[in-house]
Amino acid sequence: MDHPGRSLAVIHHRFSDWVPALQEAEPRLDIRGAHPREWESLDPDWLAGAEGLFCWRLPDGLVARMPNLVWVQNSGAGVDHLVANPELPGDIPITRADGRFGFWMARYVCGHLLSEALLLDECALAQSRSTWNAKLIPEDLGGKIALVLGFGRIGRQIGRALRELGMDVRGVVRSAREDEEFKLGTSAELPQWLPAARCLVLAVPSTAETRGSVDSGLLRFGNSHLTLLNVGRGDLMRLEDLLAALDAGTVGRAVLDVFPEEPLPKDSPLWHHPKITVTPHHSGPSTPKDLIPDILDNLRRFAEDRPIARAVDRQKGY
Ligand code: GLV
Repeated sequence: MDHPGRSLAVIHHRFSDWVPALQEAEPRLDIRGAHPREWESLDPDWLAGAEGLFCWRLPDGLVARMPNLVWVQNSGAGVDHLVANPELPGDIPITRADGRFGFWMARYVCGHLLSEALLLDECALAQSRSTWNAKLIPEDLGGKIALVLGFGRIGRQIGRALRELGMDVRGVVRSAREDEEFKLGTSAELPQWLPAARCLVLAVPSTAETRGSVDSGLLRFGNSHLTLLNVGRGDLMRLEDLLAALDAGTVGRAVLDVFPEEPLPKDSPLWHHPKITVTPHHSGPSTPKDLIPDILDNLRRFAEDRPIARAVDRQKGY
């Protein structure tokens, strides 16, 4: 053992799940955890010596109390909150984990789309009225265009699931490239693709380039059958532009799992909008079982004092 007891602080709202799971994955480390609201309950001397940090949102003041920090592992896919945090020195590698989010999000996207296509709400209503409504014919999604904005590991998995529904899937990527499996384009293609699209899935990270990019200039190319599903980040979209597009009929419905402010404030107009479905940022649950396979290699590297691999590119933001 090169560094017996190298220390990893777990500052996470579900630290009681994560600490034993990480400890089992890498028994050589000294792993201790606390809730983000109670991080100061950790022994300050131990924290000052800890070289690794596993976290979601960084509590203010924590990094200043970790002068030996050399690695930050995010407990999820999006690192926008860490990259933007001025307390985190630029030379400390940040790593992300998207585990099985692609599978979860694929189910989420298909579930919401199938619920529309199979008229599940209408069927439930008819049943509640003991009404046999033979006019409730499911929509055929076959051949309809599905656009997935962001086509990394997560977006591709969503694309594969939509393809299984028979949809004509197109991935929207930063720079044009050939792909063996899917038709890919850049955002420059969206004005041609959106008028006939049945769904637009936002699965990009929040970066300087993507924040606010789904705005009225883009949504005006949509159509009244377009369902927009956001599983990325709330700040990708300008909410006032979405509301205007729903009013104007260039978006038919929106399924939103992420919001600029979470939890969504009680007085938000989104809660009661007839064309919006709100879900509580649950499309990709971060469980140790799903994420540890992504983290394991770096846990071992950290335990053995080897360089951390696959750090995010802070300039790109992912
Ligand atoms: C969740 O939103 C994540 O980025 O992991």
